[in-house]
Amino acid sequence: MKFFIDTANVGEIKQAAALGVLDGVTTNPSLVAKETGKFEDILRQICEIVDGPISAEVAAIDYEGMLREGRTLAALHKNIVVKVPCIKTGLQATKTFAEEGIGVNMTLVFSPTQALLAAKAGARFVSPFIGRLDDISEDGMNLIEQIVGIYDNYAFETEVLVASVRHPLHVVQAALIGADVCTMPFNVIDKLIQHPLTDLGLAKFLADWEKVKNR
Ligand code: E4P
Repeated sequence: MKFFIDTANVGEIKQAAALGVLDGVTTNPSLVAKETGKFEDILRQICEIVDGPISAEVAAIDYEGMLREGRTLAALHKNIVVKVPCIKTGLQATKTFAEEGIGVNMTLVFSPTQALLAAKAGARFVSPFIGRLDDISEDGMNLIEQIVGIYDNYAFETEVLVASVRHPLHVVQAALIGADVCTMPFNVIDKLIQHPLTDLGLAKFLADWEKVKNR
């Protein structure tokens, strides 16, 4: 499973990259709005830190506007993947981007039919938002299971990028299902390694070593 960090914060991206397990980055307009500086400058900095897919979302919702913005974003760096919302014009833009060799991450996906369309249009990634489904009492992970099953049935190459991840259990469940990618906020990445028994065990080993090290 590939790990992406879900942030536009360069400091967090540097910390996650330093762990050696980071494969890519996803951003969205809300995440970018939390940071200062121009979007393009933030993207250029991110591309210098992480050598993997970096998702950058278009703000346009019309076909021509999406193409214009997406081509500009894609020209910034070879690793930029254009994030496009799952609406009719987004589907059309995805098809055109795919024909031009520009990678697309179809975002705001909440149903298996949307994911099927994203794959048929040639998206490189599909982003089902599981946390937001959980928020309205729907089982987000059930959607991941359905999409992975559908893509397997037809050998679609679109990668299932689990988004709107809120806690480590989401990561575990997505990995058990066999999703290709999980994008998560820094605080979730940070929690993945933590275990109280590791801390207790280490404290005991260090204390015992104090007793023998000067023998
Ligand atoms: C990433 O691609 C998505 O935009 C992000 O995971 C959404 O997360 P949220 O539902 O916590 O805002």
